[in-house]
Amino acid sequence: MGSEFDPDFIQKPDQRPNLDISEAESIPIIDLSPLLTSPFIPGDDTLPIRTLVAEIKAACSEVGFLQVINHGVPIELLERVQSAAKEFFALPTEEKRRVRRDDENFLGYYDMENTKNVRDWKEVFDFAVNNPMIVPTSSEVKETRVQEISNRWPEYPKDMRDACIEYAKAVEKLAFKLLELMAMSLDLPAKRLNGYFKDSLSRVRLNRYPACPSPDLALGVGPHKDQGALTVLAQDEVGGLDVKRKSDGQWVRVKPAPNSYVINIGDLIQVWSNDKYESTEHRVSLNSERERFSFPFFFDPAHHIIMKPLDELVTEDNPAKYNEFSWGRFYRSRRSSNFQKMGVENLQI
Ligand code: SIN
Ligand code: FE2
Repeated sequence: MGSEFDPDFIQKPDQRPNLDISEAESIPIIDLSPLLTSPFIPGDDTLPIRTLVAEIKAACSEVGFLQVINHGVPIELLERVQSAAKEFFALPTEEKRRVRRDDENFLGYYDMENTKNVRDWKEVFDFAVNNPMIVPTSSEVKETRVQEISNRWPEYPKDMRDACIEYAKAVEKLAFKLLELMAMSLDLPAKRLNGYFKDSLSRVRLNRYPACPSPDLALGVGPHKDQGALTVLAQDEVGGLDVKRKSDGQWVRVKPAPNSYVINIGDLIQVWSNDKYESTEHRVSLNSERERFSFPFFFDPAHHIIMKPLDELVTEDNPAKYNEFSWGRFYRSRRSSNFQKMGVENLQI
C-alpha cells in the first residue's frame, strides 16, 4: 500500500463513506445474563427468558443487528487472540503469504479481496472451526463432489493455533445459545435448527484494517450482507462498522461497547424464516489515524443441507418466498473468484 493512493481501492462516488457519520444508539444492546445465572433449559418459559426472547425478536425483525453483553465468552480468550493477531499481521508479507489462501483452499491469509469489484483495505486470516472442513469442490458442479480443506497455521506466533481454537469453541457455544433464542423467537422449539450445524462450515476471520490515508475514498469492506446463519463479531474500541438502517436507509455506526459481541442475521436465516428476519447490509469505514481489528465468527451449517424456508413458517397466507438450493453451493459461490457470487435475490421465487 504505497504513497500514491492506489485506484483499485477507490469506491464509486455513490458508495463513498460519509466520515461524520453518527454512532447509532439504535443498535439494541441485549443482556444475556439470564442465560448465565440459571442453567439455560431450552424451552424455558420463565419471565427472564421470555423477556430475552422478546428482545431478540424485536432486534432481529426491526434492525437485523444487535449487541450482546454478559455473553459468557471469557475475556482472556479474546485477549489471547488479539495478541496473536497483532503479532501475526506484524510479520513480513512474505512470511504471511506462506499460509495464503487459494481458490481451492480458501483458509489462511490474504490481502487482496474485492467486494463488488472494488478492493477492500484490509488483510485477513481465516480458519475453520471444524478441521478439516468438508466443502463442495466448486460451485459449478453437483454438490456431491466434495473435498476436505485444512487450516493453515503460521509457524509464528507459536500460540496462535491454540489461542484461535480455544476462542472459536467458546464463541461457538455463544452462537448456539443465540440460535436457540432466535428459534424460540420464531415460535419454534429451541433446538429446531441445531442439527444443521453438525460438521458445520463455521469459520473465524481475523481482520486487520490498517490506517488509511484516504478514508473518504476507500472502505475496509464494501457494502454486503453475510451469507450464513448469523455472525458473532468482536471488534476493538476503534469503531468503523456501519449498518444500513432499515427504517430510513441511512448508514449508522455501531458504537463499540466494552466486552460485547455484535450479532447480525445472515442470508440463511432470512431464507429459513421466510423473510421474518432479514440480513442487513453493512460495510467497514476506515480512518487515517488508527488501525482496527475485528474478529467475526461466521456460524454456518454443514454443506449438504438444503436451503429453504422452514415448513413451520410457510402457510397459505405466507407462501414460500425462496426456491430450494444447496447451501454448500451457495456458500462456495462467494469463495471462487471465477464464479458469480450469489445472494438471496438469486433464490427468490
Ligand atoms: C465484515 O462484515 O466482513 C467485517 C465487519 C467488521 O470488521 O466490523
Ligand atoms: Fe459482513
